Amino acid sequence: MTRKMLIAGNWKMNGLRADAAEFQAMIDRISTDQFESHDILICPPTTLLAKFASIAEKTEMNVGGEDCHWEIAGAHTGDISAQMLKDSGASYCIIGHSERRANHNETNQTVKKKAEAALQSGLIAIVCVGETLEQRQAGDAMKTVKSQIQQSLPKGANFNNCVIAYEPVWAIGTGETATSDDINQMHGCIRELLQEIGGEKLSQSRILYGGSVKPQNAKEIFSGKDVDGGLIGGASLKAKDFCGIVAGAS
Ligand code: PGA
Repeated sequence: MTRKMLIAGNWKMNGLRADAAEFQAMIDRISTDQFESHDILICPPTTLLAKFASIAEKTEMNVGGEDCHWEIAGAHTGDISAQMLKDSGASYCIIGHSERRANHNETNQTVKKKAEAALQSGLIAIVCVGETLEQRQAGDAMKTVKSQIQQSLPKGANFNNCVIAYEPVWAIGTGETATSDDINQMHGCIRELLQEIGGEKLSQSRILYGGSVKPQNAKEIFSGKDVDGGLIGGASLKAKDFCGIVAGAS
């Protein structure tokens, strides 16, 4: 079975309406061939989601949310539900990004509930996992990532509705990337774990790498046999960089 690469941009808390021009430039620069052979996604802040969805309409570009609440609706001031994201045009949602785990005290249990809400609303969940520098230095990187996956994978996850993003915390926004050997070893280990948990239906889920992916290192990172694309932060804000990364996947 061949897995379609997913190149996903995470804009985080960046972007104003004027930056729609950058998003439009990405759509214009990515070739028909690239859109056919990969899934391409930008997750902008929620304020821009509906606008980006309307720009992307009738194109192959996908848009997604950066987080969602675990309930469909209710008294949760400031929160956004998966259903609202879907209604705004999203087809994916990033769940349990390490910045949310750290800054909003999200646990594996909340990540799991959120991912389940995403699936129920018809979104593809991108469940993020990754070890801290201390955990890696202590030799606990695999153990940490395995337990995050075991505890935060949503019920009903399969290769159609769920993507795993391996993002070592120490590589995010730092300019440091894990070595190809480390990435390939971790991705292989994640694939085995998915097979153990859910057989072929889960093990064929896409596994993305995230953490300081740039046009210069994308090709090497994406060449790993179990690397099915990337989750890109800083370098997804500019069309030139993002398109350079998409080219690295081709
Ligand atoms: P970065 O972020 O590419 O800026 O390191 C990746 C992410 O946080 O998803």
